[in-house]
Amino acid sequence: MEIVIVRDADEVGRVAALKIASVVQRDPEAVLGLATGSSPTGIYASLAARVAAGELDFSRASGFALDEYVGIPLEHPESYASVIERDVVVPLGMDASKVRVPDGRASDIEAAVVDYEQAIADAGGIDIQILGIGANGHIGFNEPTSSFASRTRIKTLAPQTRADNARFFDDPSQVPTHCLTQGLGTILDAHEVVLVAQGSAKASAVAGMVEGPLGAMCPGSALQLHRHATIVVDEAAASLLQLADYYRYTYANKPVWQRFE
Ligand code: F6R
Repeated sequence: MEIVIVRDADEVGRVAALKIASVVQRDPEAVLGLATGSSPTGIYASLAARVAAGELDFSRASGFALDEYVGIPLEHPESYASVIERDVVVPLGMDASKVRVPDGRASDIEAAVVDYEQAIADAGGIDIQILGIGANGHIGFNEPTSSFASRTRIKTLAPQTRADNARFFDDPSQVPTHCLTQGLGTILDAHEVVLVAQGSAKASAVAGMVEGPLGAMCPGSALQLHRHATIVVDEAAASLLQLADYYRYTYANKPVWQRFE
């Protein structure tokens, strides 16, 4: 795991975007894993600015959303299909036919999740998975006690997650109780992951993920098993990391050939 501590939320988006840009520059047909929520919005904005400037081209890339709500219509502005279209596909100039979101409206959920896993495998796997982390340590919607071997499936959102996401809805009762999410095993199969976190509300989850024991109570800790995970956090989200100075020192002394900025 590489821990990159930067000044503020804007810098988190800028630095993490460089990582994703380097993958797409290397392989214009890269497969992206796409998180939603507040955490990655700075990444998408930074990438969109570079697309607008003609520096990056996502038209041949493909994407798989990390998760989707169950129980709200596709056209709901907060369905993740809508969010991905609005915040990612359009601003990055991606080909909508190459971007998939788990089908939370499927009449046969069991078949839909198997189909989603197969589509990822058929695409050759995810080259770079973008992630945020919940205050309770979830990644994707793999809530505490999710199996480290889990694949895409239906999950019940934890009450804390529903409360945290109420800000996106007119009324807290409208937040769905269920979702489809890539599993921890699915996420661990991505060739590379970049997770971003901003603000003190994420500090405890970040510390658990990076320095805590591998454990069911912090699903993000599963990333300790990943061979190529980059964690980009601002000072507030890094505030409970015991080895923060070591991560700063490591990053400052990173060999030139390993740098992505
Ligand atoms: C979103 C997702 C979630 C969020 C997490 C943090 O697709 O899978 O794990 O990344 O809930 O949410 P925000 O970024 O809104 O704080």
